Amino acid sequence: MKILIAEYAGFCFGVKRAIETAYYEIEKNSGRKIYMLGEIIHNPQVISDLSKKGVNIIEEEELDKLTEGDKLIIRSHGVSKKLYDFLAKKGIEVIDVTCPFVKKVQDIVYEHYHKGYSIIIVGDRNHPEVRGVNGWCDDTAYVVNSIEEAHKLPKLEKACAVAQTTLIGRYWEDILEVIKLKVKDLVFFNTICDATQKRQGSAEQLSKKVDVMFVIGGKHSSNTQKLKKICEKNCKNTFHIEDAKELTLEMVKDREIIGITAGASTPDYVIEEVIKKIRFLKGEKEEE
Ligand code: F3S
Repeated sequence: MKILIAEYAGFCFGVKRAIETAYYEIEKNSGRKIYMLGEIIHNPQVISDLSKKGVNIIEEEELDKLTEGDKLIIRSHGVSKKLYDFLAKKGIEVIDVTCPFVKKVQDIVYEHYHKGYSIIIVGDRNHPEVRGVNGWCDDTAYVVNSIEEAHKLPKLEKACAVAQTTLIGRYWEDILEVIKLKVKDLVFFNTICDATQKRQGSAEQLSKKVDVMFVIGGKHSSNTQKLKKICEKNCKNTFHIEDAKELTLEMVKDREIIGITAGASTPDYVIEEVIKKIRFLKGEKEEE
């Protein structure tokens, strides 16, 4: 049996930076309440560890609960401009770990919106990153997530198109072709982040060579779901698992070449536990 791990898998630069900053802030905090706006990453193990250390998760609708001097971690997905203004007015100290790749999309949108461009975001309208980016053009963006939706766009004089950072590259290209037919004066920016492109590319390559492919990551993690979509095109035995507990003998029985990739918010130790469990199920190693 062979276990092959995708060349790029697991924690990305933006998530690593967000987690390290959160832990650093907790260590140096002296008695003030620390909140995080939504889960800092879609990873149950990390979230439960942060909760044990006193970080409270809060949702946008509950922000009124915060009082002056509280600290709020803004996660790598970023938030709208309106929200920053609200927090500043309330005297909340913001620990901003918005990923620089997301910040770049927000800046592009803000700049072009104020130059009179309509904004088109290619991505999932319900994803926090897309909602945040839309908040830099007063929630006026056209959000499209498929070729069909792009066909429904109105004819526009002047527009700026950007991508959700975790979009699948091919979707962006296909959807952009339709957008080009709809807009007279179009500027566009492929804002899919480098980490996403590398993860998707190496998962695609690996899934062509294996008998079974495991994609490890939170069930709600958008970039993990996309990795699964990419892998199952090449390998019909593709499983999206959150951790080693979900692995069964059935999944690995009679499989000789086993591939592994992981979403951008999956810590290394979760990947290592999956590898250990596979070896155990294949009778190669005792489970500890
Ligand atoms: Fe940033 Fe890309 Fe990771 S946008 S958070 S580096 S997946």
